Amino acid sequence: MADSIITLSRDAPIGIFDSGIGGLSVLRHVRTLLPDESLLYFADSGFAPYGEKPEAVIVERAVSIAAFLLTQNIKALVVACNTATAAAIAGLRARYPELPVVGVEPGLKPAASLTRSGTIGVLATANTLASEKFLKLQSQVAQDARVTFLLQPCNGLAHQIEKGELSSRETQQLVEHYVTPLVAQHADTLVLGCTHYPFVEQLIREVAGPEVSIVDTGEPVARQLQRLLEQRDLLRQIPATDRLMAYTTGSSSTLSLAFSKLLRLDALVQVVSATHVRH
Ligand code: DGL
Repeated sequence: MADSIITLSRDAPIGIFDSGIGGLSVLRHVRTLLPDESLLYFADSGFAPYGEKPEAVIVERAVSIAAFLLTQNIKALVVACNTATAAAIAGLRARYPELPVVGVEPGLKPAASLTRSGTIGVLATANTLASEKFLKLQSQVAQDARVTFLLQPCNGLAHQIEKGELSSRETQQLVEHYVTPLVAQHADTLVLGCTHYPFVEQLIREVAGPEVSIVDTGEPVARQLQRLLEQRDLLRQIPATDRLMAYTTGSSSTLSLAFSKLLRLDALVQVVSATHVRH
């Protein structure tokens, strides 16, 4: 069902959301590629993690957040979460047909062109790996490129990252637990299928070893956003001067700290109550 007509303006901000801080790994590429744009980040930390929640809950959150960001006059929406993309992107596009909506999905195609062993490990949430959207992509790429995908749901890993534990013993043990069997089965390429995981890429690299390639989709997502804005003549002509704005349904200090620690950025963070963004 399509909502009421929305007007998009070149000078409006781009909305980017995730279940929590993971989408910052996408935001950093958007800022690098489109430095003149004004960005609004939304972390649904009060509801994180999404990875093991029922699909209906994730769809409801995505619709509510998109509606909230539209009240802030966004001109495009980046669903910087693989789990929310798999569950909700088709619904968001149907609801807001005139809004450019960019999603993120595990980089299976780039991984298929990198692998030499023909075996690729995919690290993602249980929901992403069980989704229809992912399974369709997987069978298509596996058939076309004649590669094998080893699917590894990483329960608990996004939660560790959300807590800011990027190198604690517990996080290290989880990474070892998930990555070691993939390498033992000759995976020479690992796909980061959750936007939280680039923040523990170093740890993954240490466990996997130097020979293993790691695929992240943050940059292609930023390029796709640039293409869509270009096509619709929605790129800013004059650099934005406003401060980087962020909203969270969790704690403002946690999100501020994530911006400064992970991206060395200073963001103005506001807390929105979860009910506030209910549609
Ligand atoms: N960052 C998200 C993703 O890309 C979800 C993590 C979570 O909330 O479980 O899938």
